[in-house]
Amino acid sequence: MREQIRISPSILAADFLNLGAELASVSNADFIHYDVMDGDFVPNISFGPGLLRAVKRGTDLPVDVHMMVSNPDEVFRDYLDAGADILTFHMETAKHAHRIVDEIHKRGRRAAVAINPGTAVSSLDAIIDYLDMVLVMSVNPGFSGQQFIEHTYTQLNKLKALCSSHVVRPLIEIDGGISPKNAAQVVAAGANVLVGGSAVFDAPDHARAVEEMILPRDLSVS
Ligand code: DX5
Ligand code: ZN
Repeated sequence: MREQIRISPSILAADFLNLGAELASVSNADFIHYDVMDGDFVPNISFGPGLLRAVKRGTDLPVDVHMMVSNPDEVFRDYLDAGADILTFHMETAKHAHRIVDEIHKRGRRAAVAINPGTAVSSLDAIIDYLDMVLVMSVNPGFSGQQFIEHTYTQLNKLKALCSSHVVRPLIEIDGGISPKNAAQVVAAGANVLVGGSAVFDAPDHARAVEEMILPRDLSVS
């Protein structure tokens, strides 16, 4: 079966001074990845809901919001109000994961949970039935341009086993250190949404970099 691979360029690596043009340059992608960082859960501060409203005006693609914040229960509604199409919070931070997912769904959006490289996949056991997507971090979150952690393949294998045992098929997004070099391998391991930060926005031709990330699609034919 041929599976669709989706590419989600992370604008954390974009030229902020030219954000409109940067968004337009990746219009061949599937989602826009919007990294929210609070300087507490991760050692960096990025964007909040205000800029998300502007990004929504600058793209027709669904915006995939990755909240790296210590208090998702308190702030997630701000991102729904600002137009998040897919809203991801971290399992390590949520006080009431099911409640957040339920409210995201009531607002007609897609809900996802992320896990850090050091977080057990089994921590998703009680929530996996309700998710549209799982985000597997392949670096410790906080910055673009970090090196892919090889243990991610073990995480992907465990996640596939968990999904099979629950008979669910959420999208599986992989985030951190993904490039055309390892895209085929992470797709073979089960990922079907690839985030690309520096691999897309540091490339001379962004649209072409997106296409090069999508190429594994042709390798997934069985
Ligand atoms: C890292 C962020 C990523 C980051 C990816 O904490 O969640 O989305 O922008 O950047 P690259 O692809 O350069 O690792
Ligand atoms: Zn991210």
